[in-house]
This record gives sequence, C-alpha cells and structure tokens, in this order.
Amino acid sequence: MRLSVRLLLAMTGIALLALAITTRPVARANNEPAVFPIGERVAIKTPLGLRSVPIPTDNPPTRETIALGRRLYYDPQLSADGTISCASCHAPQFAFGDARKVSVGVGGKTGTRHAPTVINSAYNAFQFWDGRSPSLEDQAKGPIANPVEMAHSLDGVVNRLQTDSKYRELFKKAWGTDQITIDMVAKSIASFERTVIAGNSPFDRFYFGHDKKALSPAAQRGFRLFTDPKKANCAVCHTIGKEDALFTDNKFHNLGIGADTRGNLNDPGRYAISKQDADMGCFKTPTLRNLANRAPFMHYGSFPTVKDALAHYIGGGNMNDHLDKAIHALDFLTFDERDDLLQFLDSLNGPLPENIGPPPDLAMSPSPDKKAGY
Ligand code: HEC
Ligand code: HEC
Repeated sequence: MRLSVRLLLAMTGIALLALAITTRPVARANNEPAVFPIGERVAIKTPLGLRSVPIPTDNPPTRETIALGRRLYYDPQLSADGTISCASCHAPQFAFGDARKVSVGVGGKTGTRHAPTVINSAYNAFQFWDGRSPSLEDQAKGPIANPVEMAHSLDGVVNRLQTDSKYRELFKKAWGTDQITIDMVAKSIASFERTVIAGNSPFDRFYFGHDKKALSPAAQRGFRLFTDPKKANCAVCHTIGKEDALFTDNKFHNLGIGADTRGNLNDPGRYAISKQDADMGCFKTPTLRNLANRAPFMHYGSFPTVKDALAHYIGGGNMNDHLDKAIHALDFLTFDERDDLLQFLDSLNGPLPENIGPPPDLAMSPSPDKKAGY
C-alpha cells in the first residue's frame, strides 16, 4: 500500500516535471503570474495545404480570447495617440501586409523595413525579418512599445484598457479576471493571429487535393520550374512539403536586397541578432502565399510587382560579399518559362477565413481620430 502511494507520488512528480519542461511561458512583465484562458479550447480549422496550427501549451485558443484578440488587433487605442492599430500596417485589404514600401507609425514616423504579412505567421519558427522574436505572443508586445510604430508603453496600454468598461468585461470573460495584464493582451492577439491562415489555393487543390484540373498547363510547367534544381530552384528556400506547403524554409538568406552597386548593405539583417558573419544581410524567407494583394515585396519593399521580384532572381541578385550560394543568374530561362513561373506564383492565392476583418462593434464605435479608420 505504502509502496503504491510512493509510486503514485513519484509518477505525479514526473508528470509535473514533464509539464514544466513542455510549457514555454512568454516573458512576463513585473513577474506577473502566468495566465491561462478560462474558456473551452477550440480547434482552428486548417485548409488544404496546411498542417494544424502549432499552439503553445500556455495559450490554448478559446472563442473568447480569439474574439478579444481580434478587437485589440483592430483597435487604434493600442497606440500612444489613438491613431494606429496593428491593422494600419497589416491591413486585411492588403492580405494583412502593407502597401507602403516601409511602415509609417505614430506621427508619420517611418521605419526601415516593409511590414510582412500576418497570414500564416502562426507557422513561423521565428518572427520578424531578422527572426529576433521567438513567438507571436512575444512579437505582439514589440510594436506597441516601438517608438516609430505605436509609440506607447506596455503599462500605458494596460492602464488605458483598464479604464474601458467594455474591455474589462471582455477580459473577464476570456481570462476570468478584469485585472488586465500585458500577457493577456499579447496572448489574445496571438490567438487571433493563429486564425489568419490561408491555404486551399488552386495549387493546393492540384498538389494536395489531386485535382489535375485545378492548375492551368502553364502553372503546372511553372511548378516544375520552381522545384527543378537545374532550373529556377526556388523551392530550395520556398519549401513545399509532402503534406503541407509553407513556401519558407524558416531560414535566413542574403539576396542582396538593399545593397548598392559597390555591394554595401543598408541593413545587417540577421547579423544584428546572431553576430555571425555568415548572417550579414540575411533575411527570413517569406511565404509566397497570397502575393496578389501584398505588394511591394522584400524586407525593403523594393519591388512593386511579383514580376519585378522575379527579375531580381533572373539577374542573379545584387552582388555583395555575403550573397547566398543558391542565388545565381537565371537568364537561361526563356520568356515563356518566366511567364509560366508567374502563373504558378499566381496559383498560390487562396481564400481567407471569415470573421478576421474588423469586429462590427469596434468599426461602429466613434474613433478619437477620424483619419485613423482602424
Ligand atoms: C507602424 C507599422 C506597424 C504596426 C502598427 C504593427 N506592425 Fe507588425 N510589423 C511591422 C514591420 C515593419 C514588421 C517587420 C519588422 C522587422 O522585421 O524588423 C512587422 C512584423 C510583424 C510580424 C512578424 C511577421 C513575420 O513574418 O515575421 C507580426 C506577426 C506582426 N508584425 C504583427 C503585428 C501586431 C499583432 C501588431 C499590433 C500589436 C503590429 N504588428 C503592429 C509594422 C507594423
Ligand atoms: C536562397 C534562398 C532563396 C531562393 C533560391 C529563392 N528565394 Fe525568394 N526569397 C528568399 C528570401 C530570403 C526573401 C526575402 C529577402 C529580403 O527581403 O531580403 C525572398 C523573397 C521573395 C519574394 C518576395 C516575397 C515577399 O513577401 O516580399 C518573392 C516573390 C520570391 N522570393 C520569389 C522567389 C522565386 C520566384 C524564386 C525562384 C526564382 C525564389 N524566390 C528563390 C529566399 C530565396
């Protein structure tokens, strides 16, 4: 009897230890205790071409946290002067990216990089072009406190939300308390972002759904060029898996974007984080899904069209000391082949889920600054 109690205790200990190891809490401000959503966990539906969305153990999505995160995402109250929301730079009409070359934040201040799309960021191994953030939860706190983005402080946001009775009610429903913390804010936004996913494109229906008619003959030829190591070889970085296709290897490469004619780079990219010489001018491979509405392209917003981006590869990138070995001139591709590649890229546009636009009650509430929209 005694023995079995001991055994039970030992087993509980091992189970708790395993839980402690697998649970990866987000960095907390002011040593606040970890927070857990109170509602029932919901499954996020994934379209053809994507695997199930990775979920951190300490932030299971619930109906309430997703809805709250959606509201926060579209709410300019998160910025210092109430004019800029996440959607100002990651707008639904631009495939959750930005039509401007580099982002513009509070007071018209410009940043130095183009805003990447939030679509499928749930699958990123790292967030930001230089991968400096490990998770969506961690990432969400960045822009709020960034002086050229939302220019607020994390405490300032919490205090402002705390005075709003509607938010107190929504946080209470989602987190079981109306004492708002920045972790609850970041985790709610992250749970909303995990619902902003796109697959089920003509390519997915062709490749994963085995519908031979889903792709035109030109796009099928483009697909073969895209994956052929002796031809365009794009898939070596823009990966297509056996069961899903993210079109990114989640690694960092130097294409010479932002380099001048002498090979001087305007942004060290991944090097600033890793301090590894090989990472100089390297940026994270972005997904190629839903390119249609998210021009301009690259970390510097260098190219206004997909065709211009392709021309960069045809030319062999911009020469500099750290240009990736996989980048070399593709001028042997015929003009027909280049067109086929563009047709293939166009086949990667898929529908977005419903219920990811601005929440109706927020869109109707009077904004302190009419210019802001959302
Ligand atoms: C003023 C414009 C601006 C605002 C406002 C803004 N972002 Fe961003 N966002 C950017 C830029 C620019 C980057 C890339 C920065 C970098 O890589 O250094 C980025 C990167 C990201 C990424 C990383 C995506 C990837 O593929 O690496 C996510 C996710 C994201 N933002 C979500 C948000 C959320 C959530 C908010 C609101 C809390 C927000 N952003 C507010 C401009 C903005
Ligand atoms: C060596 C790896 C590598 C190869 C090979 C490669 N890419 Fe890329 N691709 C990247 C990286 C990294 C970026 C972002 C670079 C930057 O902004 O500095 C990128 C960006 C892009 C973009 C812009 C997407 C956006 O969100 O801004 C397009 C379009 C693109 N690639 C298409 C292609 C095509 C087509 C091919 C084949 C002809 C190809 N790529 C080959 C790594 C690669």
